[in-house]
Amino acid sequence: MIDLSHIDVTFHQKKRTIEAVKDVSLQINKGDIYGIVGYSGAGKSTLVRVVNLLQEPSRGTITIDKQVIYDNKVKLSGSQLRQQRRDIGMIFQHFNLMSQMTAEQNVAFALKHSGLSKAEKKEKVARLLDLVGLSDRAQNYPSQLSGGQKQRVAIARALANDPKILISDESTSALDPKTTKQILALLKELNEKLGLTIVLITHEMQIVKDIANRVAVMQNGHLIEEGSVLDIFTNPKEELTQDFIKTATGIDEALAKIKQQSIIKDLSANSRLVLLKYAGNSTDEPLLNGIYKRFNVETNILYGNIEILDNVPVGEMIVVLSGEKDKVEAACAAIEEMDVQITVLKEGQKA
Ligand SMILES: Nc1ncnc2c1ncn2[C@@H]1O[C@H](COP(=O)(O)OP(=O)(O)O)[C@@H](O)[C@H]1O
Ligand SMILES: [Mg+2]
Repeated sequence: MIDLSHIDVTFHQKKRTIEAVKDVSLQINKGDIYGIVGYSGAGKSTLVRVVNLLQEPSRGTITIDKQVIYDNKVKLSGSQLRQQRRDIGMIFQHFNLMSQMTAEQNVAFALKHSGLSKAEKKEKVARLLDLVGLSDRAQNYPSQLSGGQKQRVAIARALANDPKILISDESTSALDPKTTKQILALLKELNEKLGLTIVLITHEMQIVKDIANRVAVMQNGHLIEEGSVLDIFTNPKEELTQDFIKTATGIDEALAKIKQQSIIKDLSANSRLVLLKYAGNSTDEPLLNGIYKRFNVETNILYGNIEILDNVPVGEMIVVLSGEKDKVEAACAAIEEMDVQITVLKEGQKA
């Protein structure tokens, strides 16, 4: 649906040039919730401004719905560009509502050039506010609304012209964790209900994990890694991606705490500390059941976490296995055979 090919964006300032986006190519399919993560300054906002045609690239090709919107030959006229932009809604961190207008008026403002009659507009605004769960706040001004409610108005406004694509640029960054969850749930609902393709810019991997199905990681203007959320979370290749994921899963913190515990500090000779990671079906089987029976190896779970990524359960466990050395070895091999990644974190030492 969205195809970016070799996009560069270079800004020329008085004394220096800034290469904000460097040779980025990516494809976003219809119905995707596509996360783009990276630290501040990575080039995320500049890249999505290219997608919604607010920023002309210095090089590259933009194709939306099989139509080339921009390359070194094609340039859309002003009116074509306005039509294209209407197909793309956008929401931001600071909502960008007009403070002197009510919620209803803010949404209606986006319908100014829609050609609808006054009555049709009124009906549509009511429908949009209902869609975002804000019917009872139609007459409130932004100052009378909470952050989450303001973002709901902004979402209703962004959807006013029935866009096919919604771009969210850090839209939950100014919200508390609970409100963030609610807004993400709304975005997911709109994705499913309307078939809306969503491009989700964020500096938090947690957000990607919650609702995205694909993710790209940006660093210094480059797209350094891209893939399904499941692949990226279970098998991140780049160091930056790994860092982002660690902050989203909590495994590092858990491990640091566990390593301070005396049973781990003085891990006995017949024990082994392992990290187990599994995705999909293996979580349906009782993974560690039977290990004791089959191998006479005891399993002591110190930490466990299961996430649902794009509808697939993904689990991590930190476990102490204790038993005779060759039995522990055999148990590890058996676990691995169940399609579980196993990493030895520590071997017990003889006292
Ligand atoms: N209009 C502009 N003029 C000059 N430099 C810009 C402009 N917009 C963004 N930049 C620069 O481009 C880089 C990427 O910025 P941005 O896309 O906003 O990153 P992000 O959204 O990932 O934080 C930054 O170094 C920023 O200062
Ligand atoms: Mg930004």
